[in-house]
Amino acid sequence: MTGGAGFIGSNFVRLSAVERPGAEITVLDALTYAGDERSLDGLDGVTLVQGDIADADVVDPLVAASDLVVHFAAESHNDNSLNDPSPFVRTNLVGTFTLLEAARRHGTRFHHISTDEVYGDLELDDPAKFTPSTPYNPSSPYSSTKAGSDLLVRAWVRSFGLEATISNCSNNYGPYQHIEKFIPRQITNLVDGVRPRLYGAGANVRDWIHVDDHNRAVWSIIEKGQIGETYLIGADGERSNLDVVRAILQAFGRDADDFDHVADRPGHDLRYAIDASRLREELGWQPQHTSFEDGIAATIAWYRENEAWWRAAKAEVEAKYAAQGQ
Ligand code: NAD
Ligand code: DAU
Repeated sequence: MTGGAGFIGSNFVRLSAVERPGAEITVLDALTYAGDERSLDGLDGVTLVQGDIADADVVDPLVAASDLVVHFAAESHNDNSLNDPSPFVRTNLVGTFTLLEAARRHGTRFHHISTDEVYGDLELDDPAKFTPSTPYNPSSPYSSTKAGSDLLVRAWVRSFGLEATISNCSNNYGPYQHIEKFIPRQITNLVDGVRPRLYGAGANVRDWIHVDDHNRAVWSIIEKGQIGETYLIGADGERSNLDVVRAILQAFGRDADDFDHVADRPGHDLRYAIDASRLREELGWQPQHTSFEDGIAATIAWYRENEAWWRAAKAEVEAKYAAQGQ
């Protein structure tokens, strides 16, 4: 698998150790600012190879030795893609291309992890949700490079008969998420006695899912999904950013208005919402984490108990946001 030292990938390895104990996992990860070897601590039977997915010499022998590639690695943060799109093009496009070519050469089953952001955004009052037939309409350098990577996978299925599936998931939360992201940024701010920061009015809606529910869906698609198909993963968890900040403030016992509005994200997508019927009906998947408040409480507890994991990055992340008025 790729990107196993990142947020979702490390949770995938951890979940697999418990629920798929026979799986032998090799993680290929460049250990960028977003990857952390410590996220894999305590896991037996995992081999970590530090390397770049865009480096064919590194990728080829690893793919040759694998029965399955699960591709999580990406540059993943929208705000970073607005400051410097170039690593997004290299990792998300050239990296995915490099992996696809290796999988084609060796006839390796491939699962591509992607995002609901490839579909653009929805109006707040639109009754529609994203489905596998929603046209692609990405907004940011991040989401456009993810959209391009999905299209590469589709082309490799059709043109070369690659045995691949794709999943497009909504916003994940849970342990081991980098503190540049919305929820852990606000949690770690509150641990530091700093008020949460809401972009713009906070009306933007995200469709939250616990990272373990995402990863169980990925296993369902690997084991039962149809080759060539796209599966949308979401748990009907739509919430405005304002509601999320208030839920976090409440869990800290703080006043519901104890936050600051800061500069909005340029091109900020308004709303994402997933229709996961194919996953639920064809593959029998359903989420296990159905209480957002319980999930947030557990996530807060994790960041409190694992300050050593995030503390060193906090000052730099906040300095970067401060420089852009956020
Ligand atoms: P993350 O930023 O936490 O982790 C990304 C990992 O990829 C890191 O370990 C990093 O070191 C590694 N990486 C980056 N560039 C690399 C390269 N060139 N070669 C090898 N490794 C490299 O990201 P995440 O939030 O865990 O997201 C994982 C995947 O899930 C991404 O493909 C993302 O698009 C997708 N996704 C994320 C979410 C979300 O809410 N976070 C939702 C849907 C889909
Ligand atoms: O939808 C799936 C996507 O979710 C993934 O593809 C991305 O990899 C992942 O980063 C996430 O993208 P978002 O841009 O939605 O996530 P982020 O955590 O950056 O922001 C969530 C929302 O919160 C968004 O509307 C911006 C807002 N926000 C973010 C930060 C960091 C704030 O209001 N304040 C903040 O401090």
